[in-house]
Amino acid sequence: MSSEISVLQVALGERAYEIHIGAGLLGQGGEILGRVLRQPRAIVVTDQNLERTRHPKHLMETLTRAGVDAHMLVVPAGEASKSMSQLERLLEDMLALNVERKVTVVALGGGVVGDLAGFAAAVLLRGVDFVQVPTTLLAQVDSSVGGKTGINSRHGKNLIGAFHQPRLVLVDTDVLDDLPPRELRAGYAELVKHAFIRDPALFDWLEEQRARLFAGDSDVRREAIHRSLAIKAAIVAEDERETTGTRALLNFGHTFAHAYEALAGYGEGLLHGEAVALGMTRAFELSVRLGLCPAAEAERARTHLDAVGLAVRSREVRNAIFPAEGLLEAMQRDKKVEAKRLTFVLSHGIGKAALHRDVPEADLRAVLDADA
Ligand SMILES: NC(=O)c1ccc[n+]([C@@H]2O[C@H](COP(=O)([O-])OP(=O)(O)OC[C@H]3O[C@@H](n4cnc5c(N)ncnc54)[C@H](O)[C@@H]3O)[C@@H](O)[C@H]2O)c1
Ligand SMILES: [Zn+2]
Repeated sequence: MSSEISVLQVALGERAYEIHIGAGLLGQGGEILGRVLRQPRAIVVTDQNLERTRHPKHLMETLTRAGVDAHMLVVPAGEASKSMSQLERLLEDMLALNVERKVTVVALGGGVVGDLAGFAAAVLLRGVDFVQVPTTLLAQVDSSVGGKTGINSRHGKNLIGAFHQPRLVLVDTDVLDDLPPRELRAGYAELVKHAFIRDPALFDWLEEQRARLFAGDSDVRREAIHRSLAIKAAIVAEDERETTGTRALLNFGHTFAHAYEALAGYGEGLLHGEAVALGMTRAFELSVRLGLCPAAEAERARTHLDAVGLAVRSREVRNAIFPAEGLLEAMQRDKKVEAKRLTFVLSHGIGKAALHRDVPEADLRAVLDADA
């Protein structure tokens, strides 16, 4: 095991923060967190699946050793916890602890815990500090950084939320050892997405290293997460609130992905990262069809995702069907479709993504038909 730690900065002026990445970092949680706490009080939020691992106890122990008065709150595991009722329960439980504005909320978990606890921190006493300790690969390379927090509505996912940047992100690569392989693969889709958007050298490296990453090599995991997050951190620093279009690049593959998820019913049948792998494959195909991306580059991307064990054709997804018509309708309903214009992040080759408006529906339909 390696003891090396990488540190990344998210350059957001007075909201700037550090991301620490390394194996076994949870053990130093108290010490590292201690540097950002405004008061030695923390509320750790986690979920019931994680509660069964040693990680919450481990984190609580190091906080206590560092002299932090820490309290733990547990929410049910799964997407359903990103709800108004869970938010209410969480906020009332926090207030019952007589918290003050200098308290820090610590989200220990995947994207569900991070989004829910982050949003609770954004509104508790009009906003308290929060720290992300992401425990899924998806949360480690994506949701823990960037400040998007929130819950779902019956009208759609993530429709109620706030921008609330964490004060610190602590990534312990060891926690991935407990993660089900399927969740690891799903998170990997978001990891490689950042290479597809902006970093061809990272993709070259991942082609060589991915087997080691999946086999649990902590140095490879640390470097892969660091390089992938560096891209997300840079894009967030350039366009914190998605106003200039740069941050929209992070949605590569996502217009398709959201449509697949809508048709699959947002359940266990198709995980978000799995939908992103399908979506990125379609985005590459559409880019080739529009003459933007060399076919060989799209093929390299598809081969890579396939080798990881991610579905690249919709028929590989069990118990779900994705008719082109249904996908097109779902895309029209997506909040990211501006005034009915079909806007996509497309690829000009691996490492070169760009936003395109007014993509002809006929080309989109042709890509979906070719996969069906
Ligand atoms: N805020 C953002 O910018 C952003 C970005 C992407 C995704 N998201 C959100 O993230 C959520 C998905 O996150 P996710 O994929 O991490 O899902 P998740 O939080 O539901 O975690 C997946 C599963 O793994 C379990 N788990 C977590 N860590 C574990 C570990 N170390 N060992 C064993 N089991 C573990 C969880 O209990 C859960 O069952 C979605 O709600 C999505 O909307 C947010
Ligand atoms: Zn995503």
